[in-house]
Amino acid sequence: MCGIVAAVAQRDVAPILIEGLKALEYRGYDSAGVAVLGPGAIQRVRAKGKVRELEERYRLNPFAGGTGIAHTRWATHGAPSEENAHPHVAGTVAVVHNGIIENHAELRAELQAKGRTFTSETDTEVIAHLIDEAMRGGLGLRDAALTALRRLEGAYAIAAVSLTEPGHVVGARRGSPLVVGIGIGEHFLGSDVQALIKVTNRVVYLDEGDVVEIERDRYQVYTADGRPVERTVHESELSADAVERGEYRHYMLKEIFEQPRAVADTLEGRLGPRGVLPNIFGIDAETLLKRVRGVHIVACGTSYHAGSVARYWIEGLAHLPVCVEVASEYRYRDVVVPPDTLFVAISQSGETADTLAALRESRKRGYLGTFAVCNVPESSLVREADLVLMTRAGPEIGVASTKAFTTQLAALGLLTLELARLNGAPTEKCQRLCAELASLPRVLEQALQLEPTIAKLAERFVGKHHALFLGRGAHYPVAQEGALKLKEISYIHAEAYPAGELKHGPLALVDEDMPVIAVAPNNQLLEKLKSNLEEVRARGGELYVFADHEVTLPPNGGRGELVKLDAGGNLIAAAAFTVPLQLLAYHVAVLKGTDVDQPRNLAKSVTVE
Ligand code: G6P
Repeated sequence: MCGIVAAVAQRDVAPILIEGLKALEYRGYDSAGVAVLGPGAIQRVRAKGKVRELEERYRLNPFAGGTGIAHTRWATHGAPSEENAHPHVAGTVAVVHNGIIENHAELRAELQAKGRTFTSETDTEVIAHLIDEAMRGGLGLRDAALTALRRLEGAYAIAAVSLTEPGHVVGARRGSPLVVGIGIGEHFLGSDVQALIKVTNRVVYLDEGDVVEIERDRYQVYTADGRPVERTVHESELSADAVERGEYRHYMLKEIFEQPRAVADTLEGRLGPRGVLPNIFGIDAETLLKRVRGVHIVACGTSYHAGSVARYWIEGLAHLPVCVEVASEYRYRDVVVPPDTLFVAISQSGETADTLAALRESRKRGYLGTFAVCNVPESSLVREADLVLMTRAGPEIGVASTKAFTTQLAALGLLTLELARLNGAPTEKCQRLCAELASLPRVLEQALQLEPTIAKLAERFVGKHHALFLGRGAHYPVAQEGALKLKEISYIHAEAYPAGELKHGPLALVDEDMPVIAVAPNNQLLEKLKSNLEEVRARGGELYVFADHEVTLPPNGGRGELVKLDAGGNLIAAAAFTVPLQLLAYHVAVLKGTDVDQPRNLAKSVTVE
């Protein structure tokens, strides 16, 4: 899941490309590079590390030129290094690539047998050689790219240039996203709209298999077999400000604080005083949703945790059986699908390879229909699902997902209420739950006021190497999400357990060095949870409890802390309790001095398997 930017313009494109890469760093940040066609030579600069390293190198040795390609990498084949950084050059051709070429070893051997030498360990370099080989055979860049692409197995988005065709960039997508940006007298390619928003908001989303050629004054999309095809031009509503960090020290903090607004936007126009408004899932959705007798939810990472919360909601309120599974497991399992089961995929990006593959696999498995909860319009997931409910979180840049999670919960809350209504939940109950869901932005706003308290608390975690998170019911996935946040950005090993399971193993780990963090909503499981916490207390464990304001707990002799918040009703409490856990992870990471927005080894959009 690397990031691609390309441009053809009258002005010098290297600075535009580098700006674009900065917006794409969420896709990978272990190395970066730019290549611009110069008179008689490909001018290239590459650097290990962040885009700012690349920018620094470019500043010391700038180059001019109006045709170029650029890349920010998340290593799959070959370690992060300058040699493995894109663009890769072969003969007159330079290429950037996102994805994995599965048959690269055979292709490399074949090309080597023809006398071609390779300078990197990447799978990408074979693409540059294949295109160069085809161009030497007499083809132009576009036809050479089409010929090369036919040899590739796997997923990709690419952009390629050739010294013999200045003023042209060819791009292609199969399995990884690519958009065309339309400027005035200049055209661009980008892995997403964010990369291009500073130069244009007019974009064309390429379809699977499309190939595109851009020049200064024109662009043309082709199908995989080379036929010209028209694709719709969209005006993106994204504003350049939405991808700025503003006064916040990190994107993650900005995004945590954006949650009340993002959730309000996600609910707006969808929730009336008496229930979920008609047709918010699409005109014919009700006919399909009425028939639903069970739900399978599939997702990855944080989105999986949102799905795991929704399981409790849908089972508890709509009385439908629900299974939740991580997409990488689901796609390779012999899943038994009972009649009239709805397949639900949840994804912030809509481009996560495993989630998309699961959606495609589900088509063969006899589901009633597919339903996507997603944050990126025009993403592959949105385009391929039967029904879609968009979260309106706006761009999420921090690799550790925050506002995507709470907006997914808001969206899944809407789905739950609709399924509950269609399955005979009493009107009065539905109305009460609607009012509760509508109060979520306010509840989140209040939870955010805990920030100073949590920043202080975070000091107690800096020296720790492990942490245990506990929750019960819908708050078990909340504990999982809290543990995920802490491990992702502070690199503290964190595990989550359903509190009732503590005595079956993890209790053995509890001592003064293993902080236990528990989420204690005021619900029917509270007394059970309290007993579980007693087990920790009795063993001298350090106990940090985030509890609903009505909950009382005995003091723990200074070993830990009790932090109270108004978590709202039972439905929305899961979202409310997530906020302090996000803030805790954030402040621990800041105190530890880690790279909060771009934690090591991770990427935001995982478009490879
Ligand atoms: C990566 C990100 C996570 C995200 C997960 C699923 O692991 O780092 O933050 O939750 O992918 O991404 P999706 O876009 O499908 O929600």
